[in-house]
Amino acid sequence: MSLLTGQTAVVTGGAQGLGLAIAERFVAEGARVVLGDLDLAATEAAAKKLGGDDVALAVRSDVTKLADVEALVDTAVQRFGGPDIMVNNAGITRDATLRKMTEEQFDQVIAVHLRGTWNGLKAAAPIMRENKRGAIVNMSSISGKVGMVGQTNYSAAKAGIVGMTKAAAKELAHLGVRVNAIQPGLIRSAMTEAMPQHIWDSKLAEVPMGRAGEPEEVAKVALFLASDLSSYMTGTVLEITGGRHL
Ligand SMILES: NC(=O)c1ccc[n+]([C@@H]2O[C@H](COP(=O)([O-])OP(=O)(O)OC[C@H]3O[C@@H](n4cnc5c(N)ncnc54)[C@H](O)[C@@H]3O)[C@@H](O)[C@H]2O)c1
Repeated sequence: MSLLTGQTAVVTGGAQGLGLAIAERFVAEGARVVLGDLDLAATEAAAKKLGGDDVALAVRSDVTKLADVEALVDTAVQRFGGPDIMVNNAGITRDATLRKMTEEQFDQVIAVHLRGTWNGLKAAAPIMRENKRGAIVNMSSISGKVGMVGQTNYSAAKAGIVGMTKAAAKELAHLGVRVNAIQPGLIRSAMTEAMPQHIWDSKLAEVPMGRAGEPEEVAKVALFLASDLSSYMTGTVLEITGGRHL
């Protein structure tokens, strides 16, 4: 028996990168997944890659809009039952130093990460508490632990996700719902590949393990937190950094 046999997972920002890698790993462990993302065609292509309608569905869903996230979760309820697992993963960066960052760049990043994660909790928790089971995994970042130059918006949002995770964990623990967060460091994805080479190199130089992480290495930790392997863990934050920023 696989770790997620018969379970349903919703993954926001699931069309590519870490979200897609998490969905792939969950499907490999027997789960059915519903992917939400902004570009429907790309999300449908990702769902097809995962095995099509029997195991993976695609929904256009903007995490900054509660109604969209509710519709995403409702698709899981209607088509697959559940959700047993909610991964609040969607993300963007709008990096700039404090001097250059616009109010719009600040607001966009807060809306996607902080409001988006809250929308995911708000939409999934009522169903999970009714089912008396559920595991929620929130995507923070090591940037939220240490603060990064050019990321006053992103570091604030990712630190905020930690507080939100702990508060929700305390509210939902007695209802059978666990809420945990992960903090990846430098992981190879479209988001990090957009970085100028000298910034990539300077970040890499800080990693004791001497290499960037792969999306599959984040997916393994998401699987741990989503499955019964972590049945007595809630409100925790796991770093996936190759030892960076300990
Ligand atoms: N790659 C890394 O090194 C790294 C490190 C730490 C944390 N993270 C976090 O991991 C998550 C995934 O990042 P990634 O590296 O896979 O990036 P990515 O850019 O490859 O994927 C992010 C996905 O989120 C989607 N998205 C953006 N705004 C959205 C919205 N409003 N509603 C729904 N979907 C939206 C994008 O369309 C995209 O498919 C993000 O939360 C990111 O902050 C990444």
